[in-house]
Amino acid sequence: MSVISVLALGVKLPLSVDDEMAAPDPALMQANCQAAGLEPSAMPRHVAVIMDGNGRWAKGRGMLRIKGHRKGVDAVRSTVTASAALGIEWLTLYAFSTENWQRPQREVDFLMDLLGEFLRNELPTLLENGVQLRVVGQPERLPPKISDILQETIERTAHGTGTILSLALSYGGRDEIVDATRQIAQAIAKGELQPCDISHQTIQQFLYAPAAPDVDVVIRSAGEQRLSNFLPWQSVYAEYVAIDALWPDVTEAHYHQALKTFQARYRRFGKV
Ligand code: FPP
Repeated sequence: MSVISVLALGVKLPLSVDDEMAAPDPALMQANCQAAGLEPSAMPRHVAVIMDGNGRWAKGRGMLRIKGHRKGVDAVRSTVTASAALGIEWLTLYAFSTENWQRPQREVDFLMDLLGEFLRNELPTLLENGVQLRVVGQPERLPPKISDILQETIERTAHGTGTILSLALSYGGRDEIVDATRQIAQAIAKGELQPCDISHQTIQQFLYAPAAPDVDVVIRSAGEQRLSNFLPWQSVYAEYVAIDALWPDVTEAHYHQALKTFQARYRRFGKV
């Protein structure tokens, strides 16, 4: 068995190319939902999470902000594995916004390195759970060594048949709509599209993840209730659920509770 080496980083991903990918078991996922007190037939298809409060978590302990980000990785892992266990189809995590580039360079560098470390370390867990990694945003803005390992992980998990983990990286909702609009304008300029034919589906087709279903629930930690430029097109009918805990303190139990809150909502989609 050969092992792929990531030359740009000079490291080796821990699994061989032909390692088996776990196939999710629907009966088990249903049992997991029930064990968590969730109704299997009313699970959200697309969960979007704004991971907020890393800085406050660290500050409250007299630590540097970066310590909060590092501890936040545990909550990322637990949310991803919990989603896979419950059979969530699509999970989008807001890992780095376009606005986050304006943070101090040291923090940006740390977040990029942490992302690379996460991708290297978590590959076995992603494969074991049948998770397929994708990215939304402008990954071309990431440092080359990080975009290399990201691309590598996307390829290595591409056959996963469980949860799609979509990392929002250098993501901005308005930028996504601007990028889609530019592509539509180009299609019109080439005569491939008529303005009168532009529909919701046309716009969807040019988003970063055209296949992603509408977001059913946006969960945000640290008690905050803001969208912060996250998936505005996709979230028009989403329910918003706040978790009071700061992101590094978020556990599987908090996640289950947020999904229960979602299931208790009555969604009318503008109808009576
Ligand atoms: C917001 O908290 C969090 C971020 C901007 C980064 C999120 C990153 C992680 C959870 C860890 C790494 C993630 C992956 C996928 C490897 P904040 O810093 O704005 O917190 P504050 O509002 O308390 O200052």
